[in-house]
Amino acid sequence: MGKDFKRTLVTTALPYANGPVHIGHLAGVYVPADIYTRYLRLRGEDVVMIGGSDEHGVPITIKAQNEGVTPQDIVDRYHAIIKDSMAQLGISFDIYSRTTSAMHHRTASDFFKALYDKGEFIEKTSMQYYDEEADQWLADRYIVGTCPHCGNERAYGDQCEACGTSLNATDLINPHSAITGNVPVLKETKHWYMPLDKWEPRLREWILEQHKEWKPNVYGQCKSWLDGGLQPRAVTRDLNWGIPVPIEGAEGKVLYVWFDAPIGYISNTKELRPDDWELYWKSPDTRIIHFIGKDNIVFHCLIFPAMLMAEGSYQLPENVPANEFLNLEGEKISTSRNWAVWLHEYLQDFPGKQDVLRYVLTANAPETKDNDFTWRDFQARNNNELVAILGNFVNRAIVLTHKYFDGIVPPAHELTDYDRDTLAEFQGVRDTLSQNIETFHFREALKDAMNLARIGNKYLADTEPWKLAKTDMARVETILNVALQICANLAIAFEPFLPFSAEKLRGMLNMEQVQWDKLGHTDILATGGKLEQPVLLFEKIDDATIDAQLQRLERIKQENIMRNFTPKAVAEPCSYDDFAKLDIRVGTVKECQKVKKADKLLQFTIDDGMKGRTIVSGIAKWYEPEELIGKQVCFIANFPPKRLKGVESQGMILSAEDADGRLVVIGPTGPVKPGVKVS
Ligand code: MF3
Ligand code: ZN
Repeated sequence: MGKDFKRTLVTTALPYANGPVHIGHLAGVYVPADIYTRYLRLRGEDVVMIGGSDEHGVPITIKAQNEGVTPQDIVDRYHAIIKDSMAQLGISFDIYSRTTSAMHHRTASDFFKALYDKGEFIEKTSMQYYDEEADQWLADRYIVGTCPHCGNERAYGDQCEACGTSLNATDLINPHSAITGNVPVLKETKHWYMPLDKWEPRLREWILEQHKEWKPNVYGQCKSWLDGGLQPRAVTRDLNWGIPVPIEGAEGKVLYVWFDAPIGYISNTKELRPDDWELYWKSPDTRIIHFIGKDNIVFHCLIFPAMLMAEGSYQLPENVPANEFLNLEGEKISTSRNWAVWLHEYLQDFPGKQDVLRYVLTANAPETKDNDFTWRDFQARNNNELVAILGNFVNRAIVLTHKYFDGIVPPAHELTDYDRDTLAEFQGVRDTLSQNIETFHFREALKDAMNLARIGNKYLADTEPWKLAKTDMARVETILNVALQICANLAIAFEPFLPFSAEKLRGMLNMEQVQWDKLGHTDILATGGKLEQPVLLFEKIDDATIDAQLQRLERIKQENIMRNFTPKAVAEPCSYDDFAKLDIRVGTVKECQKVKKADKLLQFTIDDGMKGRTIVSGIAKWYEPEELIGKQVCFIANFPPKRLKGVESQGMILSAEDADGRLVVIGPTGPVKPGVKVS
């Protein structure tokens, strides 16, 4: 495996304990990390896989406040759910701990202190909002106000969810505290900053020169951060939940969650291996791999490494194979909108089907771009791939052996050319399969494994042992021996991906768990060995089961539309004449395109029943231009023309906000003549 390492430390992003884990977390981080780790274990390598819950940070305190419980209650609840459901899915952590542990508090606190003592921080004062009634500093998330960019009145101090702009709390118009509703006051506060600019040259050299092999999405994101120039980042916060800043004059302040959480990898390694944990972190012959999602790239590739460089005694990661995002039925997964398939619910709804989920999430892993999970695809992959190819082959081979040979592995006699070709083919798979896992191409690796099952199926279909049973039993013996050796190979090849099924299969074959290097061998099962009765590895999933899941999602959509919406007070009375002054018309969209150098704007050519007109509208974020071509829309026809990014806009297209703050264009419910007035 490339450079010679003696051991591997696999870390998995610590999920926030403010909700359960969902398929997006699994596809992005835990399933690939588990495949990689199981593979290394099968190769007999020294590997530890570190996990744990990330239990600090503002969202946890907000959730606690909303529910009227303590942050500790929240993290206790979700830590238990997450830990239990991951274990059930077979994510084989060597340790799954938590950042509220005493070990972690001590480790993170000491780490901060070490950097502080070395003079690695800069101290700065800044102005921050304070809620006098609640007697509390307000984190950006705790401030609500009007977005200066789009006018959304419910924007948060860190981000406007309607237009997606990231904000500073001081940007908000008319800010108020989310706790008391009061207008907050600005007060001076002191914080400690990591001077990332100081580490920029070393980070550049380390990533851009020495790690060109990193995945393009990861490398590219790092490059664009580095090219943009790194700024000092505050690593402390005014908050009453977290790890106290261990220096004088910092009372009431805690470490920023993104400072303490990655140190959790270290704390958890210490907890797992109190005596030799340093080997995994400080020895250059350890390969450190961070499995994360794309939103974590900057923290794992730039900030945490800068912290480690500043400390001085730690190794940097060898690779950070971050994945993109998994969507659900075409929409972004969202914890707050409950738009997710939750692991603990899946395990209840689909008992015994852990491997089906592992399979589908790997086959669809968002390795190079965002990907979509759909329940129909889940069903199709189960029925057409797991059942029809893998399950079917194994079942046929074992059933036939019971039928003709009482479940005893028959001997192989003379091989035909076809037998030899088949065996050669599945011997060839081992190298590509290994290569793909080692380079984090898990989708391809899974295809390689599935290909073995395809080879098996084809072999049985071509040789038709059931037809030879009357005439040439010796040939049937050979065929089934070959087929059973393929089964044994499948048990090895699928072990990293589908551990539950691999174990079942080994059970049927009466086969010990053997090491990866046996893959490709054609004498894994000894002649004369006894097989157990066949059990089905996979079962068909019917339409009703899938419909039930789709209905659940439909219900959630409806709930989201209803939730959090209070209509605004009706405006001042207006006369018919006032109304009639507004010339609202229906038009048909003839053409629609993005406006150059303006990512928010779409340019429409509208058939208005006259000579046509151009209208520019700020809805590019919510529509692909093609989606609207041919649609009828309502527009205001008598606004004075206005130039936007060099294009003259002759009117305004009407739209309304949906439950997620996205704009939906308004049009007639049936076709009308272009140019007709709305009255
Ligand atoms: N809790 C973070 C998230 O879910 C991930 C933390 S990873 C760690 O995005 F390195 F900080 F632990
Ligand atoms: Zn906005």
